[in-house]
Order: sequence, then C-alpha cells, then structure tokens
Amino acid sequence: MVKKFLSDQEVIQKVLDQIDNKTTDLGDEVWREPVVNYRSEQRFVRELELFKRLPIVFCPSAMVREKGSYIARNVAGVPLLAVRGQDNIVRVFYNSCRHRGMMLAEGTGTTPKFVCPYHAWAYGLDGELLNIAGREGFPDVELKSHGLVKVKTEEKGGLVFITQKEPLSSGALDQLPDLISPDQKVFDYSTFIDTANWKILLETAMEGYHIRALHNKTFYPYGFDNLNIVETIGMNSRIVFPFRRIEKLRKISKKNWRADGMLTYVTQIYPNTRLSILSNHYQLVIMEPISVEASQWHVYRLTPPGSSSSEHDLEKSKKDASFVKDTGVEEDRDAACSIQKGLSGDGNTHFTFGKFEKAIVHFHRQLTEHINNLCV
Ligand code: FES
Ligand SMILES: [Fe+2]
Repeated sequence: MVKKFLSDQEVIQKVLDQIDNKTTDLGDEVWREPVVNYRSEQRFVRELELFKRLPIVFCPSAMVREKGSYIARNVAGVPLLAVRGQDNIVRVFYNSCRHRGMMLAEGTGTTPKFVCPYHAWAYGLDGELLNIAGREGFPDVELKSHGLVKVKTEEKGGLVFITQKEPLSSGALDQLPDLISPDQKVFDYSTFIDTANWKILLETAMEGYHIRALHNKTFYPYGFDNLNIVETIGMNSRIVFPFRRIEKLRKISKKNWRADGMLTYVTQIYPNTRLSILSNHYQLVIMEPISVEASQWHVYRLTPPGSSSSEHDLEKSKKDASFVKDTGVEEDRDAACSIQKGLSGDGNTHFTFGKFEKAIVHFHRQLTEHINNLCV
C-alpha cells in the first residue's frame, strides 16, 4: 500500500494532543554529521555527481505553463533549458547550441523557437534543428542529427523533474504525493546567492526546535517552539509547524477542521527542494549548490489552490509572501551564513542532530548512503 501523509484532521488532532501532553515528534536516533562534509571540495564533487544521478526538481510545472514558455538554469553546474512544446509536453535540454556550444536562452520567457545568439542556428520547441544560417558552409551537416540534446524529464505532482545521468535511485519520485495543483500560478520568481553550503540552508527549515531562540520576535509570537509533526515517506519528509490559533479548533466540531491558516506544512523533496504551504500562498525553494560555501536560491511563489485570478486574491498572496520574506527567513539565512563562517575553524569535528531534528537525520542518512554508493 502506498504510504500517505496524515490528513488535515489527523494532523490537527495530533497537534492538539502534543499541546496537551507538552510533547513533540521524536526521531529514533541522534546523528553525528562530520563537518568535513560541509567544507570538503571532494565531498562537494561527489554531491554534484549525485545531483546528476537523481531526479532533481527543475521548476514547478506552472513556470512553463504555456506553449513556448521556458526557463533556463544550472543544475549541478550544468546549464539546462526547459520549455513546453506545441504538443504540451515539457522537455529539458542541455542549454548548449550544437554548432559551437553557446547557451540558447537565459532566465525566463516565451518564444516560438530558439535562435542562437552567436550564429543564429534555430531550434524548434521540441529541440529539432530547424535552420542553419549560411547552409552552404555546412554541406554535410544533417539537421536531423543536430537537434538539442535532451535530458530525462518527467512532470509529477506539479513539478518538473530532470535526471542527467543513469539514476542511482528513484529518489524523490518514490511515493511522491501530488503537491501543486494545475490551477496554481507563479506570481513571483526570484534568485539570489547566500554564502553557505546548500545543506546548512535547507536544514534551517527542517526542524522547529529553534523557533523560540532564533525567531523570538518573528515566528514565535504566532507559533510554538519545538512542537512539530514530522513524517517521512520514501526519501521525502513533511514537517508541520502549527500556529497558536490552532487551539481555537477545540471549540469546533472535528468534521469542520481545516488546516488552512492553522499550520504550515513544509515538505522536503529530496535532495534540495522544499515546498511550504503558507496561509495565502505556496513557496517552492530549490537550493542549487554553487560551491562548497555558496548556494543559489530559486524561490517560486504560487497562488494557493482554488484561488481566483482577482486582484484581491493576488494581493492577499503577496502580503502573506512579504511577511514570510521580511521576517523569519532572513533570520534563518543569517544563521546558515554564521554556521558557514565557523566551519573555517576546528571548533567542531561534527554537528549533532538530536531526536527533535528527525527530518534532518532522515535527510543525512539517505544522502550518506547515496554518496557511499557513488563510484567516483
Ligand atoms: S554557437 Fe550557436 S550558432 Fe554558432
Ligand atoms: Fe527558522
């Protein structure tokens, strides 16, 4: 039987029980992660190789919603280009012209075809080479065999996944639930770089043990400290961060309980993506490793399921997004960068993740196994 995350009602009941019993979900072991894994070039090279051999979230499907809409970005240092074809299929290609390798597109946009900026070779949305400028200069070059080279691509649960090389495992796709519905739209996309290892940045959202200490004036007035439900399915996990107002539901009949506005679900999609379901929007973060100590955030903000396209609904989503952006997340980013600075010394041989940090332990257990299974 396919394992599923708990229903809203089950989650709310569990949260109310945790409040009554002053408990939280606990993992089954304390994990010691060597700090060398956050600062070693050798380890980083292995991680990039792993990123080529696992299904990786490239972008939300909503980012390439229309025919001809595209987005370019690097995955494991490799420039790739995703585009929705005339047949409605999303394809991802190496972003490298078949003449002399120039990138065909950068950023995002919509186009009927890709024309290389260097010598104007033109490609269709399906990657086929349509035209060679100055055809007589290339008499024996067949158009057919010079289309863009595809990367394995599949859309699942509202996300576009790519796998560059022979996969080591089914990774995040193993029992992945549908996470983003087709009616949700991207209303904001931004990227920026932080000076911290990609794992440290992701770890900040995988536990609620730091809510009172780090987010004392931001999240803590609305949420609980160290009171979370942590579920794991396959390689992914989901952490529930309840709001204090969830206690209002005690007065309401259970059949009318809704999680909306009462808690935040944060799903960690192995290895480097997370989806947060916030009060009036969804936030998808993809953490792209740039170097051992730098990572690029790709942040997508989406309207919630079932919301109308009205200005009013969009304003609600934007307001919610700016609250999250301006407050707690900055504190998490600063914490990650502070940890990274400390890695230059010998203050720690390992980091210790306790039983409250169960989702992080799940992540490292899986990552360690995969890295050990790589032959590089
Ligand atoms: S490199 Fe693209 S046309 Fe020359
Ligand atoms: Fe945090």
